[in-house]
Amino acid sequence: MRKISLKKHIFKMCFFTLGLPCLAISGAMAQTPRLTLDLSTSGAKVSPMLYGLMTEEINHSYDGGLYAELIRNRIFKDNPTKPEGWSLVQADTTSRASIKLIAANPDNVPNDESKHAINGALTTCLRLTVGKGGNRAGIANEGFWGIPVKPSTTYKASFYLKGTASSPPRRMGGPQRPTTAPAAAVIEDNTAGPITVTIESNDGKTVYASGKIELAKSTLWKKYELTLTTGADVKTTSDARFVISTNRSGLYYFNLVSLFPPTFNNRPNGDRIDLTKMMIDMKPKFLRFPGGNYLEGPDFANAFPWKTTLGPIENRPGHKGSWGYRPSDGLGLYEFLMWAEEVGAEPLLGVFAGYSLNGDHVDAGPLLKPYVEDALDEIEYIIGDVKTYWGAKRAADGHPAPFKLTYVEIGNEDWFDRSNSYDGRFTQFREAIEKKYPQLTCVSTIADAQYPSQMVTSGKKPAVLDEHYYRSSWDMWENASQYDKYDRKGPKIFVGEWATREGVPTTNLNAALGDAAWMTGMERNSDLIIMSCYAPLFVNVNTATPTAPKAWQWDSDLIGHNALTCYGSPAYYVQKMFSAYLGDKIVPMTAENIPTQNRPAPPQRPNSQNAAPAAPVAPKAVPTIFYSATQNDKTGVIYLKVVNALGKEQPVEIKLKGDVKVVKDGTLVVLKGQKPEDTNSITDPEKIVPVTSQIKGVSTSFKQKLAPYSVNIYQLQTSK
Ligand code: AHR
Repeated sequence: MRKISLKKHIFKMCFFTLGLPCLAISGAMAQTPRLTLDLSTSGAKVSPMLYGLMTEEINHSYDGGLYAELIRNRIFKDNPTKPEGWSLVQADTTSRASIKLIAANPDNVPNDESKHAINGALTTCLRLTVGKGGNRAGIANEGFWGIPVKPSTTYKASFYLKGTASSPPRRMGGPQRPTTAPAAAVIEDNTAGPITVTIESNDGKTVYASGKIELAKSTLWKKYELTLTTGADVKTTSDARFVISTNRSGLYYFNLVSLFPPTFNNRPNGDRIDLTKMMIDMKPKFLRFPGGNYLEGPDFANAFPWKTTLGPIENRPGHKGSWGYRPSDGLGLYEFLMWAEEVGAEPLLGVFAGYSLNGDHVDAGPLLKPYVEDALDEIEYIIGDVKTYWGAKRAADGHPAPFKLTYVEIGNEDWFDRSNSYDGRFTQFREAIEKKYPQLTCVSTIADAQYPSQMVTSGKKPAVLDEHYYRSSWDMWENASQYDKYDRKGPKIFVGEWATREGVPTTNLNAALGDAAWMTGMERNSDLIIMSCYAPLFVNVNTATPTAPKAWQWDSDLIGHNALTCYGSPAYYVQKMFSAYLGDKIVPMTAENIPTQNRPAPPQRPNSQNAAPAAPVAPKAVPTIFYSATQNDKTGVIYLKVVNALGKEQPVEIKLKGDVKVVKDGTLVVLKGQKPEDTNSITDPEKIVPVTSQIKGVSTSFKQKLAPYSVNIYQLQTSK
């Protein structure tokens, strides 16, 4: 009796007075938690593609992130009213210099500003006007929250430049347009001669790297290329800008201004080295692209336009992205595929399926056919033989060998489509794709368990369903065993987006503990969960400046970066640990005496101002220890993962059941911290990182102490 009233008292204290979670006082508390690994039976196989990556252009993940281009707004289309990211450089006012966007609004180009398009993609340009008798004048680009300057580094610069307002002679024959004479240039054309290119401090006082090109006198656009190399003594900084300048008067027209630092594998138009290495360390088995909302686009016209993301960057107009800024499409379909190859992952392609973020949809039937055909073309680009139309294009782009592809996802989060059209759309896509490519598996974006009233019922049952979860750590802990109960005869599950959302802009230790608990559930059930990937992957962590907005749109992300450097959140290290220490078969486990803590009930709000407060909802008991184990069939090594979500040390007894011997020295990898809010950041990137140590006294029954707030991976060497 006394025990029960004490229990009630503590519960009340915690829940009503302190509003804090507390340990449920139960018989289980008294006994040491025991985890038993059953090695007497052979467990199911771990999915070979269990852990992968999900990506889209959000948070400046590509432009200002992985895509190594350093020039912001390189084709001047980011904003039709001002040259965002660009400014005028003027040594003194005697230069009488100015800059102006030319043909920014395609529907209204004044006659004297027409005829400057390079092609259909490069239709807008920037004009620098330099008056007579001036000193240095030029254009400066601020980069994506700075230009990264590092010692002994060679940058590749290129730009299109034309030093005249005159246009080439008119073609003979046919109607001559326009009929009005061009307005006379205010400033006469420049003279041919040197143009200076620099990477310099924002105040212009320090030049970090410098070069020159010889401007030709021509009415035609010309591409100029040069390299800029910093000295060994240059101090690393991002307080820098890229400047193209002259001290000769004239009219100068610029387009497609580009600056690349060294890229991973030196791939032209390639990716940042540091971010690529971060991903390689995660050993991802697949890369889901191009989204996410980015696939769907804000409207039909701006769904991911894979065809205009191919070929020379000169042919890429960019498009209106889904996250409030204009992607350059420098990182396009080919670059996604190369990215996957460089990190050792298989592409997992999302195809646009006739539903956009604004809620528009195309019904199944003849109107959807062009979209289905577009998806078939896209697949052909990825896996088609070089003799096919799109396979030949891929070869021309630099990759004759087809890429590997197993899964094609039809759309993204189509449960948002309240028209109920997905059933028909999915079936039309699946039938066409499977007819041409029977080896491919189509993934449905509507999961039966999450959206039972919207699931696909016509045609064949989808083989794989994509589930998405963005949750709190409490939700993760409470639902960490949800897959234990799933029907094994139903479709396989792809957890295509998920995250514990605590911490800004990258998540904190508490979130990592939520993630790790959730991952033990996926891993224990990795016969069913064939793939999973965290989202979002990247975030540019820059806050707003006078000239650039805050870089991110989504608050809880895995890997943070700025112009110079990057870091992993505690959640990143959990991903890395789970992927690196993984066997190929599941070890069945049982658990006893697992302590729980009470999850506070969400505050109940009265539904009208005068209504009495709703009765409190009872808190829920949620486990504090989470676990999974896998074994490498060849080496016999067991990887036991145990999460302690509590802020106090917890003992645990580990038992190996079955006819097995185990080496008495084992290895333990631990990620832990002092407080749930502990985190990594761009200025403190390694506060929470895994630490490896040796453990002694391993046997078929041994005890361990789990550190407070910790994710633990035990490597135990067994033999028969
Ligand atoms: O990961 C961020 C967004 O969340 C994705 O773009 C979308 O699929 C989901 O709603």
